Amino acid sequence: MSQFLAPDLRPEDEEIERSLRPRRLDDFVGQERIKEQLQIALDAAKARGEALDHVLLAGPPGLGKTTLAQIVREELGVGMRTVAGPALEKKDIAAILTAIEPRDVLFVDEIHRLNRAAEEILYPALEDFRLDIIFGQGAAARALTIDLPPFTLVGATTRSGLLTTPLRDRFGMTFRLGYYEPAQLGTIVRRSARILGVEIADDAADEISLRSRGTPRIANRILRRVRDVAEVRHAGVITTRVAREALELLEVDVEGLERIDRELLEAVAHKFGGGPVGLSTLAVALGEEQDTIEDVYEPYLLQLGFLQRTPRGRVITELGRAHVGATRTDGSLF
Ligand SMILES: Nc1ncnc2c1ncn2[C@@H]1O[C@H](COP(=O)(O)OP(=O)(O)O)[C@@H](O)[C@H]1O
Ligand SMILES: [Mg+2]
Repeated sequence: MSQFLAPDLRPEDEEIERSLRPRRLDDFVGQERIKEQLQIALDAAKARGEALDHVLLAGPPGLGKTTLAQIVREELGVGMRTVAGPALEKKDIAAILTAIEPRDVLFVDEIHRLNRAAEEILYPALEDFRLDIIFGQGAAARALTIDLPPFTLVGATTRSGLLTTPLRDRFGMTFRLGYYEPAQLGTIVRRSARILGVEIADDAADEISLRSRGTPRIANRILRRVRDVAEVRHAGVITTRVAREALELLEVDVEGLERIDRELLEAVAHKFGGGPVGLSTLAVALGEEQDTIEDVYEPYLLQLGFLQRTPRGRVITELGRAHVGATRTDGSLF
């Protein structure tokens, strides 16, 4: 099954993503309101010599949450520890926080998947910069309180709705990242091409932007595949013709959808009579994890208005039907 350009992060991408990541807030394209608010908060914290308030970054994969966390660290000029929510145990948090330096950043990715014990030890740490540790059991139990230096928690989540209220309430700022406009993606593609040292025509950059599902990670991923085609089959320059050829090879259609997106729409339209169909049934039909469907594939289909979530399940819209209908009758994706 083609998951080639899916916006979730894979290990082989980490190195290349690092090289393409903007380091300063000024280089971060788009999300203007978020940048403006974050800049003010950063300037104020720096002027007071205080730790920045805790920040929650929410939004679909590939829109810049990890990038923003690293920018916060860079702009504050402090250290950062990065951990993944699901793997985090209570004792790890205690170990990290007792070693943290004043004003440092703790970045917790996928924070909606923290286990309960880990989450509870965070509450006093976030609110009062205090760790409450219990030693021993029963009548012999003793409580120890450790004071912590002020620090900043940056949490990232693809599913802010799954955060518990007490955790959500402890963030001073919550930023929701939205999909990018084609023009903004164009700026990102041209910048990435410069960093990768590949020549790209303006129209070709625009073509890639239009097919990137509003997602910088996908735009960068397509750019790299297009560069391969340009180097292997052509003179190395990315022209519009080369970009189109590569997009066709990748089976990315005019809306930026890939084979798996179309399979999802087609399953709802044809196997389940247009819906409503439950997520678990759909997951079995596609051979995919429910979480992947919900976090990775569906958000953009909802954004396009191709699919709807109803209390009784997923329903395909007229627009969605027209899209897969068109690809079926003339056999062409483009
Ligand atoms: N606003 C932006 N400007 C430029 N590049 C961006 C922007 N947002 C994301 N990117 C690029 O997209 C890639 C994925 O971003 P990332 O921060 O890892 O997304 P997330 O953590 O939300 O999944 C990064 O390599 C980065 O280069
Ligand atoms: Mg990330």
